[in-house]
Amino acid sequence: MIYQAFCDIFGAEPEAINRAPGRVNLIGEHTDYNDGFVLPAAIDRAIEFASRRRGGRTVTLHSLDFGDRVEFSLDAIQPDSAHSWSNYFRGVSKYLEEDGYRLSGAEVVFGGNVPRESGLSSSASVEVGAVAMWRKLLGLDLPPRDGILLARRAENQFVGVPSGIMDQFVSALGQRGHALFLDCRDLSYQHVPLREGVRIVVFNSGVKRALAQSEYEVRVQQCRQAVAQLGGVGLAVRSLRDVDRVDLDVHAGSLDELLLKRARHVVSENQRVLEAVRALEQGELERFGELMNESHESLRDDYEVSSRELDTLVELARSQPGVLGARMTGAGFGGCTVNLVRADASETVCEKVQGEYAEKHHHRPEAYIFQASDGAWAGK
Ligand code: GLA
Repeated sequence: MIYQAFCDIFGAEPEAINRAPGRVNLIGEHTDYNDGFVLPAAIDRAIEFASRRRGGRTVTLHSLDFGDRVEFSLDAIQPDSAHSWSNYFRGVSKYLEEDGYRLSGAEVVFGGNVPRESGLSSSASVEVGAVAMWRKLLGLDLPPRDGILLARRAENQFVGVPSGIMDQFVSALGQRGHALFLDCRDLSYQHVPLREGVRIVVFNSGVKRALAQSEYEVRVQQCRQAVAQLGGVGLAVRSLRDVDRVDLDVHAGSLDELLLKRARHVVSENQRVLEAVRALEQGELERFGELMNESHESLRDDYEVSSRELDTLVELARSQPGVLGARMTGAGFGGCTVNLVRADASETVCEKVQGEYAEKHHHRPEAYIFQASDGAWAGK
């Protein structure tokens, strides 16, 4: 499809085709920018790229999803607020050049089926896809980890969202049939097989995350403040990753009340990820589901990033037979919930939750049954 689109748009065949998937996070929310643990999976929805070299320094970038096109020079890459969809690609191109990779003019078409503004990381899939595209088109000798960090830099510095490393990492290095257990401090990771007999079901509230960016930034700040206050009473901590439940209990009185709640979420969530990985490895799926449930409560009550719609979707799902666990996923304030559901119940669960939600909210949420899939770097 992307191949044909390129031929139609540019009247020639592309030289390189590549793709990068979105992701769903099973557990480990708001832990990545605290140097903590996460357990996402790459999903079977992706952004595809088709590209061709061209002499000179001009890039023509065509978005199928926006039905729009921009041209920019590699010699003066700036954010473009009138075509903000292009900024992820521009940012990646700028930092590759800055890091000494000489790019060349190109024609590029990209587009795909990762739902946008839904907490499924469509932006990371564009960033990682852009890195993979340049790497393939120009044969760049770019180590995978550098490519992932560069994609994140585009998000943090060029687009201006202070996100962690989770989304770009799993979009690049996810593996079919597996979740990816990542230590966001040293970037060591392990692929953990998902079990037969269960499905990852996602409901999209359809609510765009208006508050998401500003509140996300506030949470990042609050975590830093909590670390500073804990440091102030003599605890040797670089980030909330270094704090355990006992530390937090002992020093609870030295933290502002709100910061204590934020820290309690991060500290307990890190523990839940470790336990969830163990449960998954041992096939204890009910325990895994309980941990997902606890994660949601913590995000709702301590971290305060859920929403009425997400809470409703979680409650409706939990009342269905076959649902092992349900929680909001991604940054919050809208977007999606993720559910671990017994395979034979998954279709019925989708229909029931969609129907019951529609009665309450006059809107039928989309439902997806995702397969964990390969990241952009797979097999490279
Ligand atoms: C967004 C960010 C991630 C992560 C999640 C919350 O998806 O991009 O880095 O912080 O929110 O877990």
